[in-house]
Amino acid sequence: MDWEPEFSVGIDAFDAEHMKLFDLVNEFKQAHADGKGAAKLEILFASLEKYVVKHFAEEEAAMKAANYPGFDDHCSKHEALQKQISSLWERYDKDDAQGMSELIATLDNWLKAHILEVDMGYKDYL
Ligand SMILES: [Fe+2]
Repeated sequence: MDWEPEFSVGIDAFDAEHMKLFDLVNEFKQAHADGKGAAKLEILFASLEKYVVKHFAEEEAAMKAANYPGFDDHCSKHEALQKQISSLWERYDKDDAQGMSELIATLDNWLKAHILEVDMGYKDYL
């Protein structure tokens, strides 16, 4: 799964961060597909999670500065996703293999759907 021009939110910095998120998700998925061990997956997941937190904070700061009317709703979607991915990771980490397939499916769906359906909302405001 790769970034496509249709994912552009019209702000170069956020497009670049979204591209980086695609790269991190792909790297994580590839490591899992290659059968890399839990230690390697944990490192990749931690850097993905860290980047997600940084990216969300930057989007939220820009939305707040612009008095974007969808600010609260957008922030709660960010918070829900962060909770969802960390709880799926924990399930996997506690030997629930299903947690990993749900985590991968969630990351895949989320990145595309969140950009197209949620981030696009701020396109004309920021
Ligand atoms: Fe967002």
